[in-house]
Amino acid sequence: MKRIYMDHAATTPTDPEVVRAMLPFWTDVFGNPSSVHQEGREAGRAVEEARSTVAEVLGARPEEIVFTAGGTESDNLALKGVADAKKDRGHHIITSKIEHHAVLETCRFLEGKGFHVTYLDVDDRGSVDPEAVQRAITDETILVSIMHANNEIGTIQPIAAIGRIVRERGIVFHTDAVQTAGHLATKVDELDVDLLSLSAHKLYGPKGVGALYIRKGTKITPFLHGGEQERRRRASTHNVPGIVGLGRAIALAEARREVEGPRLTALRDRLIAGIVGGIEHTVLNGDPRGRLPSNVSVAIAFVEGESLVLSLDMEGIACATGSACTSQSLEPSHVLIGIGLSHELAHGTLRFSLGRHTTEEDVDHVLAVLPGIVARLRAMSPLYQKEKK
Ligand SMILES: Cc1ncc(COP(=O)(O)O)c(C=O)c1O
Repeated sequence: MKRIYMDHAATTPTDPEVVRAMLPFWTDVFGNPSSVHQEGREAGRAVEEARSTVAEVLGARPEEIVFTAGGTESDNLALKGVADAKKDRGHHIITSKIEHHAVLETCRFLEGKGFHVTYLDVDDRGSVDPEAVQRAITDETILVSIMHANNEIGTIQPIAAIGRIVRERGIVFHTDAVQTAGHLATKVDELDVDLLSLSAHKLYGPKGVGALYIRKGTKITPFLHGGEQERRRRASTHNVPGIVGLGRAIALAEARREVEGPRLTALRDRLIAGIVGGIEHTVLNGDPRGRLPSNVSVAIAFVEGESLVLSLDMEGIACATGSACTSQSLEPSHVLIGIGLSHELAHGTLRFSLGRHTTEEDVDHVLAVLPGIVARLRAMSPLYQKEKK
């Protein structure tokens, strides 16, 4: 059976061209970039080339890019690093209720260390109001962290508008761009951010590598201590193949972005229209227009998301419930609760995230299969039977 993969927000397949670019760096070019001999210098050049590529995509300078082990580490470094560096100026941090756990759990950790965190509400489409950010700022505020786009519902935040407000007050502004780098424009001056997190495996690169953009002059305390790599901001021998992969992947994604965006948007809207128009008691989560071109998040009443995912999997279709990251947990998604969904609808939410290989036939196949699965599951739901009467 042909598999249809629609879970690109969880991870993407590594582009074969990226794999080819990485291969020599496990074998022929295996040197440690910190070594001064030829083997080391060659590896070092590859790392610096990748750094320049990432910087160029972000409209940044190469020295403002720190390579990390992924989005989670970038978020941790941004939040803990700034909190520590600025703790003499204040102890207040602002974020939103629908951030990724990499940000939320780091905030909880910082609360345990004496920082105060304001978790802003979002509206029913998942948007953060820039004026709410403004109202939350106090003399104690040292950092604001708002994600560029949400991984579950796809809502794109007004980052530039928030950035203007935050940076005018001399407060550091971080955005988690893990879902947008390589997919949307992410120029740091246009977004008006001081820090930006990204991860290679969400943009057809390898897993376990990412980057943090740190605007020149932004004070940050490192939390990996050891060697002098990454200008002392992140010790540990470089993951050379991974960094080379990130560089190649982001260059390829950026080159395709303007063609791929509209193509995915058309497929996304076809899938949304087919589900919401074709299956009763379904609603689209998030913003109908201001959303990631790849994201389709729909709440399907009277069914369990988990059962839907398993049934679709048996039909060859891979998708997710509210969030892949929390799929082990029975708690409803904090994002879906954050936009005001009932626990029942949150549990009945499916996320399809489309990607480079998704075709119109794939979308139509999902639309052909899904209504039957929903009907079969609803036939077992006493609540649905009651609703029908
Ligand atoms: C918005 C967001 N931030 C951070 C992460 C974590 O990134 P990584 O898996 O590279 O640690 C993810 C991954 O799901 C994400 O979607």
